[in-house]
Amino acid sequence: MAKTKSAYFCQSCGFETAKWLGKCPSCNSWNTFVEEVIEKTTAKVPTWKSAGSSTRVNKPSKVATIESSTEKRMLTGDQELDRVLGGGLVLGSVTLIGGEPGIGKSTLMLQLALNMGSKRILYISGEESEQQIKMRAERITATPTADCYILTETSTQNIFKQIEELEPEIVIVDSIQTLHSAHIESTPGSVSQVRECTAELLRFAKETDTPVFLIGHITKDGAIAGPKILEHMVDTVLQFEGDRHHIYRILRSIKNRFGAAAELGIYAMNSSGLREVTNPSEILLSQREEELSGIAISATLEGARPMLIETQALVSTAAYGTPQRSATGFDTKRMNMLLAVLEKRCGFKLSARDVFLNLAGGIRVEDPAIDLAIMVAIISSHEDVSIPSKFCFAAEVGLSGEIRAVNRIDQRIAEADKLGFERIFVSKYNLKGLNLEKYKLEVVGVGKIEDVFSALFG
Ligand code: TYD
Ligand code: MG
Repeated sequence: MAKTKSAYFCQSCGFETAKWLGKCPSCNSWNTFVEEVIEKTTAKVPTWKSAGSSTRVNKPSKVATIESSTEKRMLTGDQELDRVLGGGLVLGSVTLIGGEPGIGKSTLMLQLALNMGSKRILYISGEESEQQIKMRAERITATPTADCYILTETSTQNIFKQIEELEPEIVIVDSIQTLHSAHIESTPGSVSQVRECTAELLRFAKETDTPVFLIGHITKDGAIAGPKILEHMVDTVLQFEGDRHHIYRILRSIKNRFGAAAELGIYAMNSSGLREVTNPSEILLSQREEELSGIAISATLEGARPMLIETQALVSTAAYGTPQRSATGFDTKRMNMLLAVLEKRCGFKLSARDVFLNLAGGIRVEDPAIDLAIMVAIISSHEDVSIPSKFCFAAEVGLSGEIRAVNRIDQRIAEADKLGFERIFVSKYNLKGLNLEKYKLEVVGVGKIEDVFSALFG
């Protein structure tokens, strides 16, 4: 009998060693090595036509002689998903969807499968029974007419057998951590299993031009469980996020070989599945009658889509010695930096005050153009003076209080104009070459943070 081969894998980054180590030399995390059996002693079971592919030999070819072709895409019927994918689903692509438990990954995928109409789709579930999936399908559509098949199976060898018979046009796997390959003995969800199963599905996708969706669990700190390698292997990585207590969900592209990353799709979770939100600015601006202090609106850009987002701040006297600082939807470190700028450059005494910051709709924003709105919201709460609700802001703020230019300013201005805003504050360095005649709203160029405050608060 052949000897069983095993190795140690870092559960956080997938680094492989022959001996156990306390600290991973690759990602520096401690106590992450687990022994995994990497080769099964029994005879090999065939995977997806693996024998055929290993005998093919590729020759180098000159770039000029390679035929160029645009990748073939199919539309999924879900406009948000199509946009996040960069204009539809690319044939033969493998897409990984990560997200916290209960956020709606299975719902999103099942909904896609049920709404594709004429396409034959195989939904493989290792987590739920056929009945559970049927119940969910009934919630989403009253009469599921789609050509969608459900398979509850976790062995990749059996899955490929079914795929060969059914010949589906799209394959969905829920989730990659529940699959296991007969080639590897370690338990499902371990680094080597996840890697092997993904590799087998990748080979299948590329050889048959079938798009594959993989649902992936995420760990406590938000990374997709299993090795980082997984993210390198697949073509596209999407993250499904949002606050479970809010109804809005955000689909974000983190990596996309076939389109721009940082693209965003917004959904609302209802009692009958996920609904696409095509006009996000409307939901992200709360409907209010009176003007309140501590609120400022920012014209941000997520991916290629401009959005107006409400930022809310609350500044109050600290009850304890150390003031509390907390931000939802925005980086707390960056907020502290903006507070320091306000203190040092503008003389606001904020060091003994609690500061809370919140972005509407449970959305997270990384666009630096939100800086100015955040500072204005903080000062508006601090001084208890409201900002006119038809004003909005789009600029980055530097350490010395200078207002910096941001990218694609015309798109932001156009969106604010469309939504009926009357005045937008931008960096004066953004005004060059800008044709302001076509907008109804007034564009105010500012150079320093003090200029903004004197214009607003006098
Ligand atoms: P699910 O897709 O099971 O999440 P995941 O696969 O990411 O773990 O979503 C589960 C949540 O969504 C659950 O809390 C119930 C809610 N939900 C709705 O609100 N409406 C619906 O129509 C469906 C199907 C689920
Ligand atoms: Mg699920």
